Amino acid sequence: MAALRKPVIAGNWKMYKTIAEAKELAEAVVRGLDNSFGAATLILIPPFTAIQEVKRTVSGTAIAVGAQDVFWEEKGAFTGEISPLQLKEAGCDFVVIGHSERRQYFGETDETVRKKTLAALCHGLTPIVCFGETLEERESGRTLDRIKAQLELSLFTLEEADFSRVVLAYEPIWAIGTGRNATPEQAEEVQAFTRSLVASRYGKTAADYAIILYGGSVKPNNALSLAREKDVDGFLVGGASLEAESFLAIAREALRAVRD
Ligand code: PGA
Repeated sequence: MAALRKPVIAGNWKMYKTIAEAKELAEAVVRGLDNSFGAATLILIPPFTAIQEVKRTVSGTAIAVGAQDVFWEEKGAFTGEISPLQLKEAGCDFVVIGHSERRQYFGETDETVRKKTLAALCHGLTPIVCFGETLEERESGRTLDRIKAQLELSLFTLEEADFSRVVLAYEPIWAIGTGRNATPEQAEEVQAFTRSLVASRYGKTAADYAIILYGGSVKPNNALSLAREKDVDGFLVGGASLEAESFLAIAREALRAVRD
């Protein structure tokens, strides 16, 4: 974590929580806030059905709300899809794009990630764009090649001004929901590499300011050591974001890493 970049802690609730449960969880997060959290950006990412309720619950606080996916068209005959305009109206400022579960189960590709990212930016949503390698790619020594290819086909097609508004999230697929987080060294290797790719594509200043999150089995007990790595600027948290206590504990650890 570098002081130059404000830590971001985003909780991806995936397909959990009814509207009533989502409200309860958001209320518990709000109750747990104190002034120290002002130094971080906290984002709650509920399922679509609960976005509006969560937005209402956190209004008046600095907590932001995000969505888990978006379609690239503004409106039209696209049954089942949600447009950036609709997300904005419901209260979102962020949207996760290219999560590995979308890639694995719903046919997301680097090309659809590119289109969704542009559409989100066009409507004033900040995209949190995910990328990461499979276990097989890691074990066969292809991690960095895979990361580079993913970024070149999606994010690095953006103009510099657009790129500067994107949050990146490195999520090794083998670490998601498995309880097996990347070690701080593994996360740092990929995240430093990612920053060097950003520097070659957009220059050093863009790289210095790029926010690169880590995601994959982040818990209160591993957050501090991960956050101490200089290129880890915060977390995209799944399972541990479903309880206010563990979500806030992770955010506290991220803030501690900035102070230390
Ligand atoms: P996890 O999920 O924290 O449950 O591993 C992370 C994610 O999917 O973003």
